[in-house]
Amino acid sequence: MKHLLGLKGLSETEIQEIMTEAFWMKREVLEKGKKNNCLSGKSVITLFFENSTRTRLSFELASKYLGATAANIAASGSSVAKGETLLDTVKTIDRMGADVIIIRHSSSGAQAFVSNYTKASIINAGDGMHAHPTQALLDMMTMQEKKGDLKGLKVAIIGDVKHSRVARSNIYGLKTMGAEVVLGGPATLMPAEIEGMGVKAYTNVDEAIRGADVVMGLRIQLERQQKGAFPSVAEYHRCFGINEERLRLAAPDALVMHPGPVNRGVELSADVIDGVQSVIEEQVTNGVCVRMAVLKMLTDGNER
Ligand code: CP
Repeated sequence: MKHLLGLKGLSETEIQEIMTEAFWMKREVLEKGKKNNCLSGKSVITLFFENSTRTRLSFELASKYLGATAANIAASGSSVAKGETLLDTVKTIDRMGADVIIIRHSSSGAQAFVSNYTKASIINAGDGMHAHPTQALLDMMTMQEKKGDLKGLKVAIIGDVKHSRVARSNIYGLKTMGAEVVLGGPATLMPAEIEGMGVKAYTNVDEAIRGADVVMGLRIQLERQQKGAFPSVAEYHRCFGINEERLRLAAPDALVMHPGPVNRGVELSADVIDGVQSVIEEQVTNGVCVRMAVLKMLTDGNER
């Protein structure tokens, strides 16, 4: 595999191989002193056209823990702000000898497009509403760590599914791994293509959550949506937010997950975010492990 653009096309075995490598990274690198040189001599560049805390920083730390040279460019501080195109920017980075370029962009398919014009491996760190493959991998790793086999696990994904690349990547990955996925949220925030996704969708969130082994809240993406999807955030929380009372409908040992950043008191109440069932902080740690695994697997045997 040269690039990681999405989970579509990856088999159950391939997804499991990445997670197995990520568990190894957690044990052998993160927990035993953060020293490994498997990326020694490689250069890893992050190029982000949208804001990020978790994804950008965890890729940078993952690169450094594995001995790579890592550098970051934010679009706002680069020549993109002077009008340079995405493609010219990627070609410029390529000419400096980058081995891996990690890109976040607001346009779906941006990373797939530029992957045809560079000798570097491209990793999709989120493209529009399309895909966020390393997020879904770290989510599945966290579920596997806590629950064991993903087969037969009922995962309820609640909230703004329409605008969510996290939801799309998780639906694809979890179904490939044999989990049952149900969606919950307002009809105005359900994607039109829901029928073809092979998942059940409920506008009554209680129905979606009932008996779930994992309850995953999604961020309300105010930056991507038109006004009018719901009357107010207070109304949204009352009708669709995950609070302690709603969580009691799930399995007693259900995990609470969220990709972050969380709008506290909107998608999840504060007591649920900070409660004993929440694994949101473990998701962040596993993000570093998954990104180490992906960087190693993409550079292993791949030359520019
Ligand atoms: N989950 C996620 O992608 O978070 P960031 O936007 O902080 O990277």
